[in-house]
Amino acid sequence: MGGSGLDGLILGIESSCDETAAAVVRGGREVLASVVASQMTLHAEYGGVVPELASREHLKNIVPVVREAMVRAGVGFADLDAVAVTEGPGLAGALLVGITYAKALAAGLEKPLIGVNHLEGHIHAVLIESNPNPTRDDGTVSNGAPGFEAGSPLMALVVSGGHTHLYLAEAASDVNPDPTHARAERPRMNGAPKINLWRYRNVGRTVDDAAGEAFDKVAKLLGLGYPGGPWMDALAKLGNPRAVEFRFQPIKRKTDPTHERPERSLMNGAPEGVEDEKHFDFSFSGIKTAVLRYVQTHGMKDVVEVRRARLGAALKERPELRAADAVREMPEVFDQETLDLIASFQFAVVGNLLKQTFAAAEAWCARGVIVSGGVAANSELRRRFSEEAARRGMRVEFPALAMATDNAAMIAAAAWGKFVAGEFAGDEMRAQPGLRLGAGY
Ligand code: KG4
Ligand code: ZN
Repeated sequence: MGGSGLDGLILGIESSCDETAAAVVRGGREVLASVVASQMTLHAEYGGVVPELASREHLKNIVPVVREAMVRAGVGFADLDAVAVTEGPGLAGALLVGITYAKALAAGLEKPLIGVNHLEGHIHAVLIESNPNPTRDDGTVSNGAPGFEAGSPLMALVVSGGHTHLYLAEAASDVNPDPTHARAERPRMNGAPKINLWRYRNVGRTVDDAAGEAFDKVAKLLGLGYPGGPWMDALAKLGNPRAVEFRFQPIKRKTDPTHERPERSLMNGAPEGVEDEKHFDFSFSGIKTAVLRYVQTHGMKDVVEVRRARLGAALKERPELRAADAVREMPEVFDQETLDLIASFQFAVVGNLLKQTFAAAEAWCARGVIVSGGVAANSELRRRFSEEAARRGMRVEFPALAMATDNAAMIAAAAWGKFVAGEFAGDEMRAQPGLRLGAGY
């Protein structure tokens, strides 16, 4: 509370992919507890997420994970002001577990239920982290980082195993909290502050694989552990990023006719004529094929299979084995040619993400950049984005490492503005596997 003026408690629940997560967040930004049960080792055996297994694991984990979050936060169910849950995008069966549980809990407690877009959650993972004080000088209260509002609009790159999207994020005009809320449903506030909501416009996306998926697939074809991103990140440090040159071809955009066109008025700050042209798309399936071809044409297949067998056996015994330990314990498995290939791949992918993001930021007159999602944990990405932002005199923010990958604190944080504005979900809330964020395309 600490005089912030806002202390509503939201329980967030996330089950869209392979993590069952629950978190208790106060005032949309103060994380009291965040618990994540990862199914990583379960899916590692298959080299990817198996939807049926994921749903079953969520079912098993959801009750203990929520209970653990409540215990760690030191609050009871009666203390909660709302329950928020990811409604999409994600795996249908996996989403359904979280939604069904959240619905039942909210109904039982007679608390409001809030549906959250997973992608907005990822963006808010940055906002909670960078918002030490939610009360602004004028006495109004922000949902998100005050510094960022000052810098709105922002260019947000959401880059994970399932997504690679660029969103222009704008602090929408101040929204007054709905005065018709029942007292019990309203956050406790001093005075009647205004709340900022965010609105989004999708200005770039991958036309095929997500960046994290490319990391995972290349790691798999090189015989490394799952998920591949952290392995590639660690091993790239040992290789020469200039050893192999990978090029990205211009991308042909596939417009989805089923998706509504954005209103022209949506982004007032956008330069004239920019609406239809300034899209900054990604494609990562080509570079994955290029790595495969390189392995085939450079006689690396036998080395890869030896590594796959050795690492596979080690990981079976110790699923928690990390790349740094593996390199120390069995250096002979990591030949220089492979390390150079990994470093070159990462250098190219990060370079492409960087080029598109800053080009989009410039074209859409964004004043800062946000990078979130699992790949935002990548150390080279953080370093190069920070350097580029500094060079341009822009601000760039990443979530804390624990908040970069899937978690429920980001869901509770993204629910805050909706809670204050009274945007509650009804009984009809359902899993939306293909849910999109904002206008665009
Ligand atoms: O956000 P997330 O937990 O789940 C999705 O919504 O997809 O992201 C997981 C993805 C995986 O593809 C994983 O390999 C990647 O993030 N990842 C990384 C790193 N840490 C996780 N990719 C590159 N470098 C990393 N350090
Ligand atoms: Zn995610």
